[in-house]
Order: sequence, then C-alpha cells, then structure tokens
Amino acid sequence: MELKIFPDGDKASKYIAKEIADFISDKNSKKERSVLGLPTGNTPIQVYEELIRHHNEGLSFRNVITFNLDEYYPMVASRKESYHTYMNINLFNHIDIQKENVHIPDGSIPGDMIKSYCDEYEEKIKAFGGIDIQLLGIGRTGHIGFNEPGSKKDSKTRLVELDEKTRLDALSGFRDLNFVPKKAITMGIEIILQAKKIFLLSLGKKKAEVMNKCFFNDVSSERPASYLQEKENVEVVLDEGASMLIPSYKMH
Ligand code: F6R
Repeated sequence: MELKIFPDGDKASKYIAKEIADFISDKNSKKERSVLGLPTGNTPIQVYEELIRHHNEGLSFRNVITFNLDEYYPMVASRKESYHTYMNINLFNHIDIQKENVHIPDGSIPGDMIKSYCDEYEEKIKAFGGIDIQLLGIGRTGHIGFNEPGSKKDSKTRLVELDEKTRLDALSGFRDLNFVPKKAITMGIEIILQAKKIFLLSLGKKKAEVMNKCFFNDVSSERPASYLQEKENVEVVLDEGASMLIPSYKMH
C-alpha cells in the first residue's frame, strides 16, 4: 500500500483521473476493454468531472465496463436519491459509455432474489476478467463500499445494514433521517480486494480520524478499509485535511 498526500482535493482528484484516463487510453489503443469499479458520494465528484474533461478532449469510454460498488435497498433506480441517478448525473450522461456496459446493483430486486442476484453480480465481474481499476471512498466508520465494521475479509456481495453514522452522513441527500434507507446492496470485501489496482481517495478534515484508525493501526474487521494495508497495488490518496493526523509523509 502506498500513501500519496496532495495539497488539496483538486490535485488529488486530477492525479487519480489522469491515472484512470491513461489506463483507458492505453487499453483503447490495444483495442482492449477496461473494467472500472466505481463509488458514489461526495469524494469522487471531481474525479468524474476530470474524466468528463478527458472525454471532451478525445478519450472514448466505448470500451469501458463499469461496476458500481453499491446501491441503497430498497431503492428504485429512477429516484433522485438513487446511485443510478447519481452516476448518470455525475458521469454517464456526459461520456460515450454504452448503457449495456454499466452495472449498478439493483435496489429494487425482491428480497428472496437478492442472494442469487448478488452472486450473479460477482460472476459478471469475474466474466470480464475482474476489475482493472477500483476507485474507493471511505466512510467515517471505516467502510469501503458499504462494508461496515464487522465485515469479513472474504465477505461476498450482499445485502447489508447501514451503520447509523453512515445513515447520518447520507442525510443531506434525503429529506429526513427516516427516509434514509437502512440497508444497501454492496460489493463484498473479497471481490474489491481482487481488483488489479485500487485507488482509495479520502478528502477533508472529517476523514482525518478514520484515516489514522484504518491505516496506522492493526488490520481489523472493525475497520474494513484496513484490509487494504495488506495489498500491493493500492494507492491511498489524500488531501492535507484528511492527512492531518498522519505522521509526516512526503507531499506530492
Ligand atoms: C459509495 C461508497 C461509500 C463512500 C463513502 C464515502 O458508493 O461506496 O463507501 O465512498 O461512504 O462517502 P463520501 O465520499 O460522500 O464521503
């Protein structure tokens, strides 16, 4: 695991977006597909803006396959609070990705079909040869995807209960805490860790404490992001705010 600290979110986001854009461009030139794992939330918005800029400058997403990490449950895709809507507004509506190449967990699947649906979601990822680049945010609980504390390293894609802290953080997107879903479908830790390259982006002072807990402490299921410590090909990318409790590291 490598830690990269940038002076601000703008530079950190541009760095990650360029890494992703260069990867796609290289794959495009070989007429190969790129498989991306994508998060929602506040953190990746600037990365997506930058990817749109790369697209406007000529980068094609026609050979890009995407798998989103999670979706609230229950949640109808067309609702404004859904992660489907988020992805369309923040990225997909602005690039030439093919609709059939986009995968986002379906938050409207009937309860008795969730298990087989989640197994199929993982099978699809594997059928594409796994995820080439996984972008992650991190929750204040230490979650990646919606793998909340207690999630095992070999946990599968599944229906999970959201931590109260996570629901409070999601409140701004909803009218009232009562409307924030209590559950979500999330990619499991196991398949996330199988990605060939992982960027975890963490921005702002409110993430400083969780960064310290997850990356300067033992690996523990109580801090699911801490599993990333054990993996190569992981870059944890921070701005100054998120890194303020971390021992001195070289700035990029
Ligand atoms: C969202 C996701 C979550 C978020 C995390 C941080 O798809 O997987 O793990 O990345 O909750 O959210 P923000 O970026 O809003 O602080």
